[in-house]
Amino acid sequence: MLKRTDRLNWITLAAVMLVMFRLVEAQDTTPQLGKNSVREVVAAMTTEEKVKLLVGMGFNEDIPGLPGPSEEDKKIPEKVQGAAGRTHAIPRLGIPSLTLSDGPAGVRIDPVRKGAAKTYYATGFPIETLIASSWDTDVANRVGVAMGSEVRDFGIDILLAPAMNIQRNPLGGRNFEYYSEDPLIAGKMAAAFVKGVQTNGVGTSVKHFAVNSQEFNRMQSNSLVGERALRELYLKGFEIAVKESHPWTVMSSYNLLNGTYTSQSEDLLTTLLRNEWGFKGFVVSDWFGGNDAVAQMRAGNDMLMPGVPSQTEDIIKAINDGTLSKEQLDRNVERVLNIVLLSPSFKHTTFSEQPDLKSGAQVARETATEGMVLLKNDNHTLPLASSKVALFGNASYDLIAGGTGSGDVNKQYVVSLDQGLTARSFVIDDELKKNYLQFIAEQKAKRPPVAPFMMPPPIAEMAVPSDRMEKLAGESAVAIITLGRNTGEFVDRQVENDFTLTAIERSLIESVSEVFHAKGKKVLVVLNVGGPLEVASWREKVDAVLLAWLPGQEGGHAIVDVLTGKVNPSGKLATTFPVSYNDVPSAKTFPGKELPGAKPLVVNTFAGKPAEALYDEGIYVGY
Ligand code: GLC
Repeated sequence: MLKRTDRLNWITLAAVMLVMFRLVEAQDTTPQLGKNSVREVVAAMTTEEKVKLLVGMGFNEDIPGLPGPSEEDKKIPEKVQGAAGRTHAIPRLGIPSLTLSDGPAGVRIDPVRKGAAKTYYATGFPIETLIASSWDTDVANRVGVAMGSEVRDFGIDILLAPAMNIQRNPLGGRNFEYYSEDPLIAGKMAAAFVKGVQTNGVGTSVKHFAVNSQEFNRMQSNSLVGERALRELYLKGFEIAVKESHPWTVMSSYNLLNGTYTSQSEDLLTTLLRNEWGFKGFVVSDWFGGNDAVAQMRAGNDMLMPGVPSQTEDIIKAINDGTLSKEQLDRNVERVLNIVLLSPSFKHTTFSEQPDLKSGAQVARETATEGMVLLKNDNHTLPLASSKVALFGNASYDLIAGGTGSGDVNKQYVVSLDQGLTARSFVIDDELKKNYLQFIAEQKAKRPPVAPFMMPPPIAEMAVPSDRMEKLAGESAVAIITLGRNTGEFVDRQVENDFTLTAIERSLIESVSEVFHAKGKKVLVVLNVGGPLEVASWREKVDAVLLAWLPGQEGGHAIVDVLTGKVNPSGKLATTFPVSYNDVPSAKTFPGKELPGAKPLVVNTFAGKPAEALYDEGIYVGY
C-alpha cells in the first residue's frame, strides 16, 4: 500500500507529465490533412515533400531497361502486392500513401503473395467491348459496382479504368479494353462504370487521354488529328464521362497529339479538361509516359506514375532555378490532396482482402450474356436443346476470357465452352475433345517464353481429318466451331490470319459444313474474339453465328446461357465488322509510320521509336 507522501509524489508526477504533454501538443502546430485546410497543409510542405507526393514510388515489376524505385522506396513493403503504382506517404502531415491498380476487366494484382497462406484473386469480368455491345448503361454500372467493391476490399484507392479510346481501326491492339468506335456509347458507358466503381468510396482513372488508338510506337507516336475529328470523336467521350461521372482522376496518354505529348499539353489538360469541362480531380501520367517532368507539371499533369528518381530531381531543380513556379507546383499538390481526402487510405477504411468472388462471378456471368451478339440464326438453329455436340476449335476448350497486358486479370479459373456445355447436360464427343486438349497442351508447350505483360503467340488451329467428319456428323446432333482471337497491349493486330481467317480455320468451316449439312445437321460458329474479324466470306456456309467477345472467367457458362435460350441474346454491335479490311477508312494510314533517323523522344524497354499517325480519315471512323 503506497504511503501518503508517495501517493502525493505520483500525483504530482502525473500532473507534470500531463502539462508537458499539453505543452508539446500545443507547440506541435504541424498542420494535419483533414484537420487543417489543404492550403495550410500545402503551405507547411517542403519542396521535397511536394515532389514526393507527385512522383510515385516506382515500378514494382523488375523489367530490364525500365527504371525502378529508389533504394529508399524499395525498402517500403507494398500494401497490395502487384498493384500498378503507389504514392509516397508524408506521415508528418497526415498524408497516407495511395495505391493505384489496373484495370478495365478487373483488379489486376498478384493472386499469390510471398509467404501468405491465402490467395488474392479478383474477378475476371467481360471486356469493355462486350459491355458496350449490351447498349445498356445499367450493365456497365453493375460491373462498376461489383469491380469497385473488389477494389475497396483489397485496400486499393484508385482503379486505373475505364479505358475509353475510340476504336479507330479494328486492328488496334487494345480495342478490347475500349468500348466502341462511337464517342456517345463510349462516354455513356464510361460514365456509368465510373459511377458504379465510385459508389464504393474508391476512385477511377478515365484513360488514355487522348487519341491513343494504336499500340505501334505508342510512347513516341504523334497523332495528327484535325480539330473537328478531335472534338466530335476522340474527345467527346471523355467530355461526357468527365462531366457526367466526375472521375477522381484522368490518365493522360502516351502519345503526342499534334506535336505535343498529351501529358505535357496545357491546352489539353488545363484549358480544355479543367477550364472548359470543369474537371476537378487530378491528372496522372501513363506509366513512364512523356519525356519532360517539368513540362508535365506546368501542363497540369499533376502526378507522375510509376515515378522515377530523375523526375524528382528535374522538378526540384526547376523549382530552384525558377523554371517551374511554386504556384504551379502547389496547384498540382492541392489537386492531389483533395483526392487523397476522399480515399479509403486517408479515411482508414478497413478492408477484408477477401472480396465476395461468388457474387463477382455471378455478375461476370450475367453481364457477359448481355453483350453477346447473335449475328445470324437461320433455320432455328438456336436455341439448342441438350444433345450430343461435335465441338471444334481450340477456343472451345481453352476459352480466351480477356486480353493481355495491363488490362489482364489474374483469374482463379476460366470456364471453357466445353465445361459450360457439359454443365448443362450436353454430351461432347469425347475422342474429339481428347484430341483438342492434347493438341493444345502440346502446342502451348512448344511456345517460347514471353516477357511480362506480353501476349503469347497464338497456337495454330488443330486440323481435323475429313475422314473423321463422317463419323462425327453421324453421331452428333450439331456442330459448334469456336474461332478464337486474342489481343493485347503493346502490339496491334494483323490483317492476315488475324482479321482474316487462317487456312486451317477456313478448311474446318468448309469440311464441317459440307459433311454436317449433308446429314441435315446444323453448324454454329462462336466468335471468341477481342475485336472484329472477317466474316463475309464464310457466314453463308454456317447456320448461326454468336459473337461472344472475350466474356470473362464465366464465359463458358454465359455462352451456353445464350445458346440454350436461358438468356435471350440482346447484344448489338457497337463497333463495325468491315466486310473487308480495305473498307476501313484508316486502313491506308493505320498504324502510322516510323520517322527514320528521328532522335528518340523516350528511352526505355517499351518506348518504340518516333512515329507519326495521320488521322486523315477525319470523322469517318466505323459506320
Ligand atoms: C500501362 C497502360 C495503362 C496502365 C498502366 C499501369 O502501360 O498503358 O493503361 O493503367 O500502364 O499498368
